[in-house]
Amino acid sequence: MEKKIAVIGGTGIDVEGEAVSIDTPYGRVEPKATKLGGEEVLFIPRHGEDHLPPHRVNYRALLWAAKKWGAVRVVSTNTVGTMSWHTVGSFVVPDDFVEFTKSRPQTFFEEVAVHVDLTSPYCPETRRALIEGAKVAGAEVHQGVYVCTEGPHLESPAQIKMLRRFGDVVGMTGYPEVALARELELCYASICIVTNPAAGMRKDAMAATEIVDQMAKSVDILLEIIKAAISRMAEERRCRCSSALAEAKL
Ligand code: HPA
Repeated sequence: MEKKIAVIGGTGIDVEGEAVSIDTPYGRVEPKATKLGGEEVLFIPRHGEDHLPPHRVNYRALLWAAKKWGAVRVVSTNTVGTMSWHTVGSFVVPDDFVEFTKSRPQTFFEEVAVHVDLTSPYCPETRRALIEGAKVAGAEVHQGVYVCTEGPHLESPAQIKMLRRFGDVVGMTGYPEVALARELELCYASICIVTNPAAGMRKDAMAATEIVDQMAKSVDILLEIIKAAISRMAEERRCRCSSALAEAKL
């Protein structure tokens, strides 16, 4: 058995690889086939060549492409603002999420009622590998709740005051990926890079360029974490992700 893994790369991460083109019912995806941590990896740049804004990313196509290529596990990278005073440059591996998105297709099942269980929304095995990988890479790593906003604007201080009651970090790209992965019975976990304190949790105004600037500083260790995590992922899946649809259809 092979460990075929897809990495959905967010802002500020790219890898060398062979360009591939994967057709899906939702459109074509143009990822790269590469090797990371000694394993075959499909690297899917979330925002594509034109850097689509988070609300326009074709999340269904990305996950479908990962599955069609043969991936069983998906590692996602997401930049986040901290609502919990994490150190900028530290990492968070979410164990749960809340979402406040507005306009994104959220399911592969538009015609039938399919309700996948999200009691453990992120794959526990894949999360564990990422946390261990982060420790091996010498990174500061935390767990916590990811809050997904619609964007594309950054949040207002009052929004952050409200969202802090719901979670620890805020980003715009973690949902609906997490739920779509479950619908395809893929193991899915995210490694979030803390690029800034969220709006209002700082004296000064926020600039989107801070996110890119911090990512430039964090990308090397992020890649180290991903490689170390991949080399720790078991071939056999003992989690429940692979049978997510078994009791989900009405
Ligand atoms: N808010 C939303 N998304 C983000 C942030 C933020 O502060 N930082 C990085 N992505």
